[in-house]
Amino acid sequence: MKIVFATGNLNKLKEINEISDGSGIEFILPEGDFNPEENGKTFEENSYIKAKAANKISRKMSLADDSGLCIEALKGAPGLYSARYAGTQQQKIDKILKELEHSTNRKAKFVCVMTLLDENGEVIHVSKGECHGEIALKQSGINGFGYDPIFIVENTGKTMAEMPEYEKNKISHRGKALSDMLSYICSRL
Ligand code: IMP
Repeated sequence: MKIVFATGNLNKLKEINEISDGSGIEFILPEGDFNPEENGKTFEENSYIKAKAANKISRKMSLADDSGLCIEALKGAPGLYSARYAGTQQQKIDKILKELEHSTNRKAKFVCVMTLLDENGEVIHVSKGECHGEIALKQSGINGFGYDPIFIVENTGKTMAEMPEYEKNKISHRGKALSDMLSYICSRL
């Protein structure tokens, strides 16, 4: 079964197809340039906006995720603005390391919310995953994407970028949200 995954981010598409490998479900990109305005006030609203935009184009079952990094000492920032916190990804990382320069509280979490719509654009399931950890003093590791090099996963002592893909996918916010979503899809459809 093919489900449209509402993203323009190829890293995310690759990750979710790896996680769902063997489930009989393949996620495919929406056609054309996909860049809807993410003007929701929550991860839930933004994932709905993206899923709805993909469904409007494709008229197929569509899944979207919205995710971000929430840092306790920064009152939850960058949160919803994780993708737009600075120019390049390196600048985003540098900005956070600078902002936390004098902070002893480095607690953080990744959050991911997924929304699944049927062919008619109706919501059929919403799932959520979190991954807790802390912001490293300096970046480390070359795997993954985004903020992975500065996010140390709780109880592992490793940044997400130091983990092989299969290890990240087992504990990540996206891995958890998708595993709940796949159980739903496989049991109900
Ligand atoms: P969005 O969900 O496409 O709006 O983007 C969320 C942003 O959060 C991404 O561009 C990344 O900067 C960050 N992010 C989300 N998930 C991850 C992850 O698994 N690793 C590292 N950064 C992530």
